[in-house]
Amino acid sequence: MPYAHITGWGMAVPETVRTNDDLSKMVDTNDEWIRSRTGIAERRIANDEESSASLGADAALRALEVANLRAADLDLIIVASSSPEHIFPATASLVQDRIGAINAGAFDISAACTGFIFAVNMAAQSIRSGASKNVLVVGAETLSRFVDWTDRNTCILFGDGAGAFVLQENEEPGGVLAEVMHSDGSGGDLLSIPAGGSKLPTTEATIQAGQHLIQMDGKGVFRFATRVMARATKEALEKADLEIEDLDLVIPHQANTRIIEAAARGLKLPMDKFMVNLDKYGNTSTASIPIATVEAFESGRITPGDKIVMVGFGGGLTWGALVAEWTGPLPTERKVRHGWLLFLARIRSVLLRVLRIVEGMLWGRYGRS
Ligand code: ACO
Repeated sequence: MPYAHITGWGMAVPETVRTNDDLSKMVDTNDEWIRSRTGIAERRIANDEESSASLGADAALRALEVANLRAADLDLIIVASSSPEHIFPATASLVQDRIGAINAGAFDISAACTGFIFAVNMAAQSIRSGASKNVLVVGAETLSRFVDWTDRNTCILFGDGAGAFVLQENEEPGGVLAEVMHSDGSGGDLLSIPAGGSKLPTTEATIQAGQHLIQMDGKGVFRFATRVMARATKEALEKADLEIEDLDLVIPHQANTRIIEAAARGLKLPMDKFMVNLDKYGNTSTASIPIATVEAFESGRITPGDKIVMVGFGGGLTWGALVAEWTGPLPTERKVRHGWLLFLARIRSVLLRVLRIVEGMLWGRYGRS
């Protein structure tokens, strides 16, 4: 059975920084309260040109560069997002078009902040089954567009950004070793965007009531998160036949430092075994784990052979974890440069759109009997 190795990683965050002090001018809050209750100091906010697909594509291209892989070599793209561009088309299809992944199937996963863990798990299983060789997994968010900027309970928490992994088939043991996934729909109302779906389509009334924006029972989510983080980590380690002592690093979903500290206590691990960077980005939902992974690697906290747990929780309710042995890029000769390939991808996309317009015109003239 082939192994699914993490061979590429990349991140993209908007340039605009919104600090706690900026927020204190918008709602009744202050830097001290936000830092002490959450650990967050600032977050990134997308500009008008940026979207979940554009940030996702930028992170994807960086991950492909690290893996030294062309977009055309991908068989599958999975995007996890809590702020997808549309109900459909899938954000994954938009990323596929932007990066020119002409041979890849693409679909989205909706599992709120646990989405990236679930997506990596699906990618690993697809590789192990032999169905895919090269899979791109993206977590991409523009949650700032779903935040009620007048609600101090939620607007302090979230930020925008994207992260991506490339997973590749290899016969060498390593890569994603075990995974666990859980859900409890009875807690769906703890964290939701109630309107805009088929149950409550968007109307003037839903907009007036702010039901198209994030609603959260913060305490309920907090209690749930502190229960499941340590439990899921232990479960995944057991499945991988590893002990807690074998762990080099835990990369948790970056929601709240106090939640991560509770997980550390539950696992009897010191905080220096946890990667924490939520002070800079806030909660970027599906993007938080890959962004934290990129920064952990860049700061020298991950080296090949390390045993890592990635663990997340979120709306749904959902929670899950995976254990991976860090590989790094696979040895390969070719050095991929995306510049002209991206240019070709843009031309191809425009040509396909023009072709569809011409086809529509011809169909109008000759197609009807
Ligand atoms: N600034 C100042 N005061 C505030 C703020 C704020 N931004 N927000 C709330 N308060 C006030 C409250 O009104 C309350 O005042 P009161 O005592 O007079 O009523 C007081 O501070 C305490 O509020 P709590 O809600 O008890 O604060 P708590 O310590 O629970 O922290 C928080 C709130 C940070 C939201 C916490 O509950 C939390 O982190 N929950 C988890 C949220 C989370 O992680 N969500 C994302 C999940 S992942 C996903 O799927 C997207």
